[in-house]
Amino acid sequence: MLKFYSLGLVVGVVCLAATTSVWGLQTGVGPTTILKSTTGVLPGSSESTSRKNMVASVHPLATQAGVDAFAKGGNAIDAAIATALTLGVVDNFNSGIGGGCFILIRTAKGEVYAIDGREMAPSAATQDLFQNAKSRFANPSQTGALASGVPGALQAYAQAVAEHGRLGLSASLQKGMEAAENGFPVTDAYAGKLRIAKKAMVQFPGTVKVFFRPDPTTGIVEPYRVGEILKQSDLATTYRMISQKGTDWFYRGAFAELAGQWMKANGGIMTATDFANYKTVNRKPVRSKYRDFEIYGFPPPSSGGVHVAQVLNILEQFKMAEMYQNDPVAFYHVVAEAMKLAFADRAFWLGDPDYVEVPLGLIEKSYAKELASKIKMDSVLTTDHGMPPNAATEFFEGHTTHVAAADSEGNWVALTTTVNTTFGAKYVIPGTGVVMNNQMDDFVAFPGKPNAFGLIGGENNAVASGKRPLSSMSPTIVLQDGKPILTVGAAGGPKIITEVLWAIINHLDLEMPIGKAIAAPRLHHQWAPKQLLLESSFDDEIADQLAAKQHQIKRSRSMGICQGITFDAETGLFTGAYDPRTTGSAAGEQ
Ligand code: DON
Repeated sequence: MLKFYSLGLVVGVVCLAATTSVWGLQTGVGPTTILKSTTGVLPGSSESTSRKNMVASVHPLATQAGVDAFAKGGNAIDAAIATALTLGVVDNFNSGIGGGCFILIRTAKGEVYAIDGREMAPSAATQDLFQNAKSRFANPSQTGALASGVPGALQAYAQAVAEHGRLGLSASLQKGMEAAENGFPVTDAYAGKLRIAKKAMVQFPGTVKVFFRPDPTTGIVEPYRVGEILKQSDLATTYRMISQKGTDWFYRGAFAELAGQWMKANGGIMTATDFANYKTVNRKPVRSKYRDFEIYGFPPPSSGGVHVAQVLNILEQFKMAEMYQNDPVAFYHVVAEAMKLAFADRAFWLGDPDYVEVPLGLIEKSYAKELASKIKMDSVLTTDHGMPPNAATEFFEGHTTHVAAADSEGNWVALTTTVNTTFGAKYVIPGTGVVMNNQMDDFVAFPGKPNAFGLIGGENNAVASGKRPLSSMSPTIVLQDGKPILTVGAAGGPKIITEVLWAIINHLDLEMPIGKAIAAPRLHHQWAPKQLLLESSFDDEIADQLAAKQHQIKRSRSMGICQGITFDAETGLFTGAYDPRTTGSAAGEQ
């Protein structure tokens, strides 16, 4: 295990940062008030029920691939992977085999596995890669060859079905392959993303070839529009080759060769050898208790499991349901402050655990008590990161989408997968149809400069050869009395953590059904920037009262996309829900 920085050195560097702002970690704010009101939820039901099984995703074709896997005798793992591989075709602005993922699996035997399919920095990557980069792109950590890490999603999917599924990888690829070959109608969401990303995408002829076509009337080359059929024959061939030859074709064969050549010709540093050296990592899930519930989350290089647990530990110090009823402003204030404290720690402490020390004390109850005692009810905290216990000695072992799946045998899956921002690095390796990720932007590419999600970070998340960038992806499974009752996860960069927290708080504390828990208006604080984001549907009166406590309020139309499944032992029903903020579908066998 490589350890580039000892903790002492890290502390030293960040103390220095406070004055020189090389790594830019700071805060500041100031004070007051109280009030009563409730918040509504978005209209429209996003829930489905089944006694047999359930899968939820952002696209009906992908969810259907999961249901088909169940119908063929597959379990929740087969369903989740078939869904993910179909999303990689019909929703490839969010995720695909050119990206990475985290998969949390709870098997029927009661074991919990965390498969880390996060991208790895190419071996030639150095800490100052982006500061020294000579690139034709304004932001080389977000666009073009340098922006990509070595993709891990395919290897993680293959491992999940091989170790925990029944149907095998070829079966999981089938529906995606068909959707790529025969085409599928472009959704509102898809067409919107093409429009948004068009300017960056047109810089790559290989991308234009796949996602753009001559307008039937003007002849001008434009992105596909809503309702038009998008066929991706190169991607269909890629899926077919993987289906026939296995993942070696991708990691050690023709794909890796082609990718290596393209990188070399286009200012990249990734090589075919980097593909061959890619490895998934089996990690130890983060296990914590919240009231009577057992929470399983994803460990570093995800920050999700740690900070979902940490915020819940802080909230455990408060009577959440009572506070929501009696004093909703105090309720939202406490949640916002807990989020802020956690994100301050995230920026300082979190990174790839194979390279840096991430203190396990972050999720200790004693630390949460200490943090909770700092929260003032009438004003906001000016806070920097804390000092969790055992900081020096303990280690964790070593645009996005979420798939939730569960079956009546007791297999549960939470799978979050991503190419990072919309259409990743915007290029397609020509001839393959594969959209490549821009996950290198999740490192601290430029110290002190916020990344695409406004996050700043410390040296623990600096770029290094073979290292995995810190992630917010938070696939989560919750148990009660040893039995799974909830699987949940989300898309939305750092908002993933707070979306998952809201689903948990709303469902477990406020007893909302999962559809409502996901639809309810959200609040988000990520410490830096110093602002409290409220969805536009969030209650105005409460917003005013939060502002009176000196929260710096900013409205946001919609924050993130979350999927979840619950199980009710009394009724024997799985309930799946997708997020009404976008299209989606939850379904199970009837
Ligand atoms: O791993 C992460 O935290 C980010 N790359 C996730 C990006 C994301 O959620 C974009 N989606 N809307």
